[in-house]
Amino acid sequence: MKDTNELKKMAGYRAAEFVEDGMVVGIGSGSTIAYVIEALGKRVSEEGLNIIGVPTSDKTRRTAAKLGISMHNIDDVDHIDLTIDGADEIDPDFAAIKGGGAALLWEKIVAVNSTRNVWVVDEGKLAPKLTHYLPVEVIPYGSDQLFKRLDAKGYKPSWRLDQNGNPVRTDSANFLIDLHPADITDPFTLGRELTSMVGVVEHGLFLNIVDTVVVGRQDDVEIFDAHPQPLI
Ligand code: A5P
Repeated sequence: MKDTNELKKMAGYRAAEFVEDGMVVGIGSGSTIAYVIEALGKRVSEEGLNIIGVPTSDKTRRTAAKLGISMHNIDDVDHIDLTIDGADEIDPDFAAIKGGGAALLWEKIVAVNSTRNVWVVDEGKLAPKLTHYLPVEVIPYGSDQLFKRLDAKGYKPSWRLDQNGNPVRTDSANFLIDLHPADITDPFTLGRELTSMVGVVEHGLFLNIVDTVVVGRQDDVEIFDAHPQPLI
């Protein structure tokens, strides 16, 4: 029986094979993507793979650069061919929740500017419906008031805190509020509602974004095309 990390590694190494010489590649964040970065680093050193990486977090930028991947800022490239990222949960309609690692804003900006998006997950991330907490990145100014409004709507907000009990700061120096809604029956409506709330920078619902999902399963790596067929 393989543990979750082995499934992440299998899927991550498989996803790294989607990268071709000369590509501009968006590189996601999180523990699964760490394996993608490792695999890409090997390809750079062993095969001479020549790519430009665009990071979705400062941590990814540092890790990838250490492994010899040439990293550029998003505004220094004119396009992104392919982005590989993780997810916290994916439903059968290929809607996902992301942001467990606090990188959702840069991840979404990189994703919407990419020709193709590939997500890499272990099979435990596939769910019949979205039940994971929903991260929301907010401007610090007035965020206590925003928190109260989210609470009044019944979304059971909680602050994302660090080990010292201070608010986590994202790479854009914002705060994160994690929502625990009873049920996400209509992610599109919820996403629009959150986007319309003043002070919200971005939310972790990633809808109509992914093209391909690479899933690490006990027996194999399975690849789903997001367009024609249901995921599970
Ligand atoms: C980062 O903010 C997230 O969106 C990650 O992509 C997501 O949390 C998956 O992370 P793991 O691969 O560590 O589970």
